[in-house]
Amino acid sequence: MSFPENTVPDVVMAPDTSVVPDAATVQTLLDAALQAIAATNDSATLAAAKYQHTGDKSPLAMANGAIGNLPPDERRAAGQLIGQARSQIAAAFTERATQITAVELAAKLHAETVDVTLPTPGHRPGALHPITQMLERMADIFVAMGWEVAEGPELEAEWLNFDALNFTPYHPARFMSDTLFIDPLSSHKLLRTHTSPVQIRALLERELPVYVVSPGKVFRADEYDATHLPVFHQLEGLAVDKGITMAHLRGTLDQLAQALFGADIRTRMRPHYFPFTEPSGEVDLLCFVCHGESVGNPEHPCRTCRSEGWIEWGGCGIVNPKVLAACGIDTEQYSGFAFGMGVDRTVMFKAGAGDLREFVEGDVRFDAQFAGGVL
Ligand code: PHE
Repeated sequence: MSFPENTVPDVVMAPDTSVVPDAATVQTLLDAALQAIAATNDSATLAAAKYQHTGDKSPLAMANGAIGNLPPDERRAAGQLIGQARSQIAAAFTERATQITAVELAAKLHAETVDVTLPTPGHRPGALHPITQMLERMADIFVAMGWEVAEGPELEAEWLNFDALNFTPYHPARFMSDTLFIDPLSSHKLLRTHTSPVQIRALLERELPVYVVSPGKVFRADEYDATHLPVFHQLEGLAVDKGITMAHLRGTLDQLAQALFGADIRTRMRPHYFPFTEPSGEVDLLCFVCHGESVGNPEHPCRTCRSEGWIEWGGCGIVNPKVLAACGIDTEQYSGFAFGMGVDRTVMFKAGAGDLREFVEGDVRFDAQFAGGVL
């Protein structure tokens, strides 16, 4: 629909505002108003016409006001005459307003049409966080060997995090400086300090034999610096079966190291102490950058292992029979091994990142480097 050019005619003014116009004059005013309305073509001209023909100062409004000046017996007829004219004008306005609104809306919709199928610039595809990628990758390696993934809560019972794992009541790891306890202390709840409580949960919940890995967040009241985060990630592993030995543990750790870092990478163990494994060891990874060749070779230093040839990876050991017994397992028949390693450290080495904080500070330029699963 289109409208002619704005041709609002001049309003015919009543000659004397104190006198009620006669029928012919009212007709002229009515015609002028209707013509003006018909000539409008947008809401602005319509508003102008409305003001001119129905506003307080318009001839018909004035005429209406002058009715009181008439002798009483003439007022009714005059009121009817003017009232009818005014309501015709009001109806014409409403109708025109409806038409104009429809046309203006159609024009606006047309002008604002958006082609949602056009490609948009600058939207990079999202990606899983590198730590999530590594957790999934490590778990997948075990799933491929027939293990199951077990998860436990981050808010854990003190008993499962410590007592059931054979920590004595005054073991230093329980002290407030390491452990984030939940208020009130009498709730005996804490943010788990390691993924090892999932070992207990798995042994209590599952049928033997048990082969589970448990990836997840752990919490310690640690410094926040280049090599420490108060919230970090571990991958826990537990195998309990008949005839499990240290050799199975060694083979499993080497298998993990090779799947992640290459066929020529192996692990080594150093004696250590954990209350829930006996014997216990720390696990080191052969440096996958220098393969140990930087050791005693100052001309070719290695940043990744600081020329030590090995990278500290985690803890491991043969499950302490006390732990198995506490879970109702016959230690004459069954034995097990367990391990737990730092996932964040693994990602940091693999990605060649120098500062753990970069992984949690959320700078998309850092995160974007890992899009597409480059780890
Ligand atoms: N839970 C230990 C830690 O956080 C690691 C570990 C897991 C050690 C399993 C032995 C067996 O340091």
